[in-house]
Amino acid sequence: MPFNGGTKSFMAPAPGFPTTRMRRNRRTDWSRRLVAENRLSVDDLIWPVFVHSGDEARIPVPSMPGVVRHSVDAVVDAVGEAAALGIPMIAVFPVVDPSLKDDGGSNAVDPDNVVCRTVRAIKTAGIDIGVMCDAALDPFTSHGHDGLLHGDEILNDETLEVLVQQSLVQAAAGCDVISPSDMMDGRIGAIRAALDEAGHRQVQIMAYAAKYASGFYGPFRDAVGSASTLGKGSKSTYQMDPANGDEALREVALDLAEGADMVMVKPGMPYLDILHRVKTTFAVPTFVYQVSGEYAMLRGAAERGWIDGDRVMMESLLAFRRAGADGVLTYFAIEAAQRLKAG
Ligand code: PBG
Repeated sequence: MPFNGGTKSFMAPAPGFPTTRMRRNRRTDWSRRLVAENRLSVDDLIWPVFVHSGDEARIPVPSMPGVVRHSVDAVVDAVGEAAALGIPMIAVFPVVDPSLKDDGGSNAVDPDNVVCRTVRAIKTAGIDIGVMCDAALDPFTSHGHDGLLHGDEILNDETLEVLVQQSLVQAAAGCDVISPSDMMDGRIGAIRAALDEAGHRQVQIMAYAAKYASGFYGPFRDAVGSASTLGKGSKSTYQMDPANGDEALREVALDLAEGADMVMVKPGMPYLDILHRVKTTFAVPTFVYQVSGEYAMLRGAAERGWIDGDRVMMESLLAFRRAGADGVLTYFAIEAAQRLKAG
């Protein structure tokens, strides 16, 4: 039987067609704009930048078309452009000269390493933008792991001591936000305590709280040069199992209890369910990382003309907002900001 029985009735019509026509609100541009539930703004974008210590201004990353490794000089210009577009924050990732890599990742705690020099250069230039730096050892270690390696084991507590020192040199260089991406237990508490004791009470922490052992990091490892050092090594003893969801909530709860100001889920698109659960469970500033492999997939398909690159870029970023992200780390940040500005 049709919903209304096709007859006049004083009874409330059964909900549904033809009384309810979902397409009515979608008919015109003004109406679609009016009923839109989520928006992407330039204020939601965090731009990850790669910096190397050489002189060459820009070295392309083959597996990430459109992404380059900047020299310190060149990155200051690029970050200036990001600030002019209104992007609130960048994230610095170093490409460390192989001659400086060792078992202990000692270059990570050198106040003159490429990360610290980059932060100082950006701050000296007076650019009004947040600067975030990773706490993790993988760009600096000869084995490509995020922590200290003993036999086959990644040592947790010993690694914390290095991460604390790394965070302190970065904060001293002027970094605004420390983002531990290593997934060691207890790192947020250790870093918070050390920052406070050193007088860096205002330095924020964005925890890579739920970071999965993912195949989607491949192009990033090419970019920073840890793909070759890591080889067939696996990060599954510290990064999360893609099978797990509840565990992500425990990770987030711990990082918040230890003092994280903001939390992050990573990767992005295959983990929208995790992002949504984190945001609805904790209602704290929640971020998501659209990682290198996601970027490479979208870019690669767009370059071949298989998908509309601009369109899927904006759609993917909006989807993160809908799932609960307050902001997105994305290699598309500059292009997305330009698109948003153009209207
Ligand atoms: C390392 C780190 C990784 C990324 C950010 N920090 C790679 C990894 O964990 O192996 C990945 C980012 C990306 O793929 O875009 N601590």
